[in-house]
Amino acid sequence: MSIEKVGVVGCGLMGAGIAQVAAHSGCDVIVREVSPEFVEKGLKSIEKNLARLVEKGTLTAADRDQVRGRLRGTTKLEDLADRDLIVEAIIEQLPIKRELYGALDKICGPATLFASNTSSLSITEMATATRRPDRFFGLHFFNPVPVMKLVEVIRTIASDAKAYEDLVAFAKKLGKTPVLTSDRTGFIVNRLLVPYLLDAIRALEEGVGNIVDIDNSMKLGCGHPMGPLTLLDFVGLDTTYYISQIMFDEFHERRFASPPLLKRMVLAGWNGRKAGRGFYDYTDPQNPKPMKLT
Ligand code: 3HC
Repeated sequence: MSIEKVGVVGCGLMGAGIAQVAAHSGCDVIVREVSPEFVEKGLKSIEKNLARLVEKGTLTAADRDQVRGRLRGTTKLEDLADRDLIVEAIIEQLPIKRELYGALDKICGPATLFASNTSSLSITEMATATRRPDRFFGLHFFNPVPVMKLVEVIRTIASDAKAYEDLVAFAKKLGKTPVLTSDRTGFIVNRLLVPYLLDAIRALEEGVGNIVDIDNSMKLGCGHPMGPLTLLDFVGLDTTYYISQIMFDEFHERRFASPPLLKRMVLAGWNGRKAGRGFYDYTDPQNPKPMKLT
């Protein structure tokens, strides 16, 4: 089955990015948000991104109009009834996701594939809220979605092999490189990335280096685009804290345990770039200044 009609539930940072790349690849896309205001905000952010591509000359104005023409917004789940694939990118709370999937299961036809963009929740646990665990997968994109080339395609023990192949083909159609992985908390990337990020915080706590030196070490010594503390601010400290807790619950290994400093920063609301401060102060976003934390 070729996936042509896509529904994206949740049009925040990740949902908007997923909707954009799906429409860009030629799919007919409907994005669903809970209120007209959120629908408008999501579509506006996509329009802004497309406008940037036109300014840079990587997209013609005519192509932008075509991409935009393939995107529609709605607040009604019922509008997703005829989709080949639903990609969900809503808040990372299992009961809310399960409720959504239960409702979608009744609305969509039996052939529709469901895929969650979760970074750490169990795909199997979401799939059991539906009568289609064989057609239920994870499709984990990376921020910023239009730029990052990777998509983790996650199967469960209940997955249908042919449907999984269709989803892998869809990821390729989006211009992404799919990696095949199974339903283990954190999948491949976060299993490797989260302990690394937490270790950077532990190194800071232990006085191994200061914020700038830790970041420069990995940027200049290992060629990473961002140092780990900058990346933590970019991903969100609250998000990383949340993922680390789920991973610790699953594996009970110290490498996934949140360092005390991370917990304190999240409690203080210093969640990174989106909060205006984290390991850096973003009062001047072009010139972030390291915070005094230790
Ligand atoms: N949306 C769309 N395009 C964007 C963008 C955004 N939010 N941010 C940057 N870009 C584009 C720019 O327009 C530019 O495009 P061009 O090369 O065609 O001109 C290109 O990306 C590079 O941007 P900049 O020159 O402004 O800045 P950088 O070279 O520093 O790149 C970056 C920015 C791509 C974000 C780079 O720093 C990077 O790759 N950082 C690491 C990001 C990362 O690791 N993401 C994964 C996080 S983990 C995750 O998402 C999983 C979750 O489960 C936690």
